[in-house]
Amino acid sequence: MTHVLNQFPQQLNGQIQVPGDKSISHRALILGAVANGRTTITNLLLAEDTRSTLTALQDLGIQIEQKGTQTTVIGQGGFTFRPQQTTLQMNNAGTATRLLLGLLVRQPQALTLIGDQSLSQRPMQRVLAPLNQMRQQVADNETVHLPIIIQANQQLEPLDYQLPVASAQVKSALMLAAIQAPGTSHITEIAQTRDHTERLLRQFGGQVTAKGLQHTLTGPQQLTGTDVIVPGDFSAAAFWLTAGLLVPNSRINLPQVGVNPTRTGFLTVLALMGATIEQTQLSGPEFSESFADLTVETQALTGIEVPATLIPNVIDELPLVALLGTQASGQTIVRHAAELRVKETDRIRAIVIELRKLGASIEELPDGFIVTGPTVLHKTSQVPLNSHGDHRIAMMLEIASLLTPDTLQLEATDAIAISYPNFENDLQGLIN
Ligand code: S3P
Repeated sequence: MTHVLNQFPQQLNGQIQVPGDKSISHRALILGAVANGRTTITNLLLAEDTRSTLTALQDLGIQIEQKGTQTTVIGQGGFTFRPQQTTLQMNNAGTATRLLLGLLVRQPQALTLIGDQSLSQRPMQRVLAPLNQMRQQVADNETVHLPIIIQANQQLEPLDYQLPVASAQVKSALMLAAIQAPGTSHITEIAQTRDHTERLLRQFGGQVTAKGLQHTLTGPQQLTGTDVIVPGDFSAAAFWLTAGLLVPNSRINLPQVGVNPTRTGFLTVLALMGATIEQTQLSGPEFSESFADLTVETQALTGIEVPATLIPNVIDELPLVALLGTQASGQTIVRHAAELRVKETDRIRAIVIELRKLGASIEELPDGFIVTGPTVLHKTSQVPLNSHGDHRIAMMLEIASLLTPDTLQLEATDAIAISYPNFENDLQGLIN
């Protein structure tokens, strides 16, 4: 689909209840499936990505019921499934694919995981190599991408592994395998990544201990169904934080957003750029994650070099950091972010190509970019903007379009439905 972007609001005002957190939604469904008893999930993200997880679990024989804002997963109380299908269609869902590779390590029948064109190009060796150390063979050693045939092996060995990349998906996949392996596994990160799996595992009665960057899990473990309240997705809220900062005279409230400190590097980046975001912390025993109401108002920004240590905790918001950099005074520098090249698209390339179409001064680096601002964004050519099939690039460009009176075209907007189907309506609500 192509969107015509022709809104140039004088202000954005109002409140947006952002959709449920995508990372937590995938994990709650998966852990619910293997737990004993029922799991009720409130505010599960119902978007294309999490529907891929839901359907894959149903294809594996799991019963899942949806009523209003509540999803109930009837846990099977174990890790071997009775699949209804031998091919699982993962579409665009990288998190779900990697987590399932870890979850299905003891599956007795061969299963094939397939995905769309983007997912079929994303690196899977980072999960397959350590899983192969645990059970000799998940897929054959030549496999680096989908399709992947998961092969049976009931003899699982514990793992002692140092991750070569900062990746919560890989860490989580290995944890899901480790809780099935008899014995003690040690999984060590190179930098702290989002810890949703650890928190949820504990909520489901599992045990994982962390000492610095090393996680210890002893298996086999049994999980028990629980009630999960999914916070608003911080990565979705980040689009409105950006819009509120950049569009003049704005004030936007974002209630009940997840503010897990391993996810909110973007708030630190904003503070370093000179912005203040109001945060009212919410607490209660029902929350296994931190929730806060966030409020943003228009503010002037200064360019910064994003500290390398923050990169894993702001990884999904870096397209927005680039956009903010076009409006900040001075240089905004992102380095040590080569992981952006293996997301839903090569996000470094996509950011540079697309923001240049809007007149941004942005230089591509092998592992990031340098933006020099401030720039008055405008249409520089007849070539339409393009999302590169990436939901986060599409939404970043829609926010960018609010800053120019020029009429723009954005191609391949269907990608937005991967994580935020109601994005357009929410935007309209702020403009009207
Ligand atoms: C995610 C981890 C990150 C992130 C992705 C969601 C997760 O990916 O970019 O959007 O839910 O674990 P990596 O683990 O590849 O860094």
